Amino acid sequence: MCGIIGYIGPRKASTILIEGLRRLEYRGYDSAGIATCHEGKIFVKKGAGKIDELVKKLNFSSLPGNIGIGHTRWATHGVPNDENAHPHLDCTGKIVVVHNGIIENFQELKDELIRKGHVFRSDTDTEVIAHLIEENLRITGNFEDAFRMSLLRLRGSYALVVMFADDPERLYIARKDSPLIIGVGNGEMFMASDIPAFLAYTRKAVFLDDGEYGVVSRDSFIIKDIVSGLPKQKEIHKIEWTLEMAEKGGYKHFMLKEIFEQPKAIKEAIYGNMKEVSKVAEAISKYDKIIITGMGTSYHAALVGKYLIQRLGKMPVIVEEASEFRYEYEDLLDKNSLVIAITQSGETADTVAAMKIAKARGATVIGIVNVVGSLATRIADMTLYTHAGPEIGVAATKTYTTQLVVLSLLSIELGKLIGIDVSEIEDTIPKLPELVDVSLKMNDKIEELARELNDKRDFFYIGRGINFPTALEGALKIKEIAYVHAEGLSAGELKHGPLALIEEGVPVVGIAPSGKTFEKMLSNIEEAKARGGLIISLGDDIKLHSVSDVFLRLPRVPEELAPITYIVPLQLLAYHLAVLKGHNPDRPRNLAKSVTVE
Ligand code: F6R
Repeated sequence: MCGIIGYIGPRKASTILIEGLRRLEYRGYDSAGIATCHEGKIFVKKGAGKIDELVKKLNFSSLPGNIGIGHTRWATHGVPNDENAHPHLDCTGKIVVVHNGIIENFQELKDELIRKGHVFRSDTDTEVIAHLIEENLRITGNFEDAFRMSLLRLRGSYALVVMFADDPERLYIARKDSPLIIGVGNGEMFMASDIPAFLAYTRKAVFLDDGEYGVVSRDSFIIKDIVSGLPKQKEIHKIEWTLEMAEKGGYKHFMLKEIFEQPKAIKEAIYGNMKEVSKVAEAISKYDKIIITGMGTSYHAALVGKYLIQRLGKMPVIVEEASEFRYEYEDLLDKNSLVIAITQSGETADTVAAMKIAKARGATVIGIVNVVGSLATRIADMTLYTHAGPEIGVAATKTYTTQLVVLSLLSIELGKLIGIDVSEIEDTIPKLPELVDVSLKMNDKIEELARELNDKRDFFYIGRGINFPTALEGALKIKEIAYVHAEGLSAGELKHGPLALIEEGVPVVGIAPSGKTFEKMLSNIEEAKARGGLIISLGDDIKLHSVSDVFLRLPRVPEELAPITYIVPLQLLAYHLAVLKGHNPDRPRNLAKSVTVE
């Protein structure tokens, strides 16, 4: 939920840290701070507020030194205020810590440390780490030992960067259930929660695994196992993402840029998976119990995946939110189960936990992941990457459509394995980038529509079959960034209750491509119209024109691929509504990009 960064090298640390925090701000944006070390002294500036405001107010760049740590916060323990902002110091002011995660036994540790005379200045769980290290440093007299001893006492999740005033040539880092990556530069090292934080300086990265800690200096690093204290061999990965991919490139917001990047991202997802999918499909075909899991938008992709695999692969599929899966499926899993976990970040706590449970039960786990080297990819037996590039906007857009592309490719292969005719769908796959481009060309029309809908308080999105998840996803986008109440419903469900809510002028967005359920969708739309609903329909059949107040005509595609092209106008609608309402769609309130706590 937070972003952390560390730097050691020849440059001015504060500049690197501020720049890195700006790139990590999507992970949390209620407070921020940095600490540097110079001539044996620690300097800290921190406060509540957005980074740009704090840069002006606190003049971060005045902090001296070539080594430092930084943090952007999304509050979990303690309200967002100046005291609770990171970095946190020990009593001596010589040990400083930034942390992403939650220390579950912090109260027990805090009570113990208070009894020993430590004075706390914040309500955070993180501050106990600084005092615990101080205590252990007193006992051991050795920085690394004190750090490791402290790690052994922590329960919960953490990515940590620790700096000692009396050891100013090294940073100490550790990870458990929260991401941490070392960017390996030339005579300099970067440590961060995510790659874009250091992409301007290096594309060489080392991913820390759970249960590892490290000691990092300008030219080298050593990674060890927290429990055994033994060194571990780590591979240096070459990152394919470019800095340009992690910048706005002339767009007003990352979200808009990412929506418009979809044709390219989809192309990468198609061609990046050509070889891999058949191998994975082969593996899947050996199972008869398939469960797909994920959270939020990735859960919606899982639902589309269910329809795809059932339709083309003729295999029954269960879909469960990872947060539910963890508690309900444990006893049902065994070595005959196959679990597909979908996660953009590869770090979502619930999804990762579900994957671990599945593995522990002997199930085979396949990940569909965007972030290379993330935790999910290291748990999964096999991983298919979405190749969408970095997604900075909190709302998932291009990572959703690329997840759908991967699931479509997989289902096509499954269909082929059992002799189903998938030729029409397969032939359409290479055309998807162009087809999505047609949806993007509606941008002006959708902006105009958003203006007309700006005063509406409730939205209903309806879809059937494989486009029921499109309704859910369309509604989620509008809730999370425009802060407007929206419900995604299966159109069949409308008459069983929700129709009572449709009255004069209530927007009803009908997702109605040609296919199995078109006629039924048409009659559901008519029902809503008859109750006074303001009908916005998306489809390719002209019959929709007469029943709609606004008809967004999209190119005809095989119904199985419609979730990819039909979600795009709905992403744009949510984006424009958010902007019209004066919200920043990249950083919706109360939300962070990676939900690394449960
Ligand atoms: C919504 C959104 C979230 C994520 C969810 C899972 O736009 O982005 O609902 O989809 O938090 O995240 P990942 O896919 O990283 O596991």
